[in-house]
Amino acid sequence: MSIDLSEDTITKEVQSTFDGCPDQRTRELFVELVRHLHDFARETRLTGDEWFTAMDFLARVGTITTPTRQEFVLLSDILGLSVLVDLINEHHGPHATDSTLLGPFFVEGRPAAANGADISGGVPGTPMFVTGRVVGPGGEPVAGARVDTWHSDGDGHYDVQQQEKLHGRPAMRALLTTGDDGRFWYRSIAPRFYPVPVDGPCGEIMRAADRSPMRPEHLHFRLHADGYQPLITMLFRRDDDHLDHDAVFAVKRSLVADFVRHGPGTAPDGTEVGEPFQTVDWTFTLSRRP
Ligand code: BEZ
Ligand code: FE
Repeated sequence: MSIDLSEDTITKEVQSTFDGCPDQRTRELFVELVRHLHDFARETRLTGDEWFTAMDFLARVGTITTPTRQEFVLLSDILGLSVLVDLINEHHGPHATDSTLLGPFFVEGRPAAANGADISGGVPGTPMFVTGRVVGPGGEPVAGARVDTWHSDGDGHYDVQQQEKLHGRPAMRALLTTGDDGRFWYRSIAPRFYPVPVDGPCGEIMRAADRSPMRPEHLHFRLHADGYQPLITMLFRRDDDHLDHDAVFAVKRSLVADFVRHGPGTAPDGTEVGEPFQTVDWTFTLSRRP
């Protein structure tokens, strides 16, 4: 190990400490991380105070993070890294539905629901009827696909953000399964555009940059089916004013959908609805596993 390292020699010295790393990929990731971190510090002439502030910031991101408050995921999202990683790894075929990020509000402990179920969990709001179809690359229906869905309420809040009010009960989320015709359908309440959480360290970045924290109105989906590549995606309301400046860079034109507003009348599942309601219909195309 050399001593008397300089600004110009320290990077190679640190990189060489990974020479013995038996896993080549781990070695590559750390060697490149050190290169980019050191270049960042040199190029910006980073001061000790600035680096201390950054480390304190990261420590606070860790402190506030819980299974239902994923501030590290949010940090990755607002810096565009989540979408970049998704774009790098997108290997879906040309006809497959585009993917986009998972976001911090997916939770594993969601209830399974039968097609047609009301998944609102009793949260009041404008009734919304979602009908979907899952198909393969040739348009063939995918039976038995597992479809996770989750979304906010009409005030832009997810269930995990209102644990006390909902007594910890899951709401506006469910795991559905497609029938033989590849279809799934459920009733819930219409979501709304909302700000990403700004009451933690990520909010400090948003305020320091005078950035809008808003996300356009959307529904989340995660699809798994045997023999097909998993898909994580969202559908965005076409007439939402925030489509062009999503705080987490996740909007794709191909995922903009009609969230249709109806007066009182008959819903797609035959239910008579005595108040205005909305419908969303979408076909999700999966690629086959290689
Ligand atoms: C969401 O869509 O739930 C979300 C995604 C990224 C950051 C915050 C929220
Ligand atoms: Fe969301």
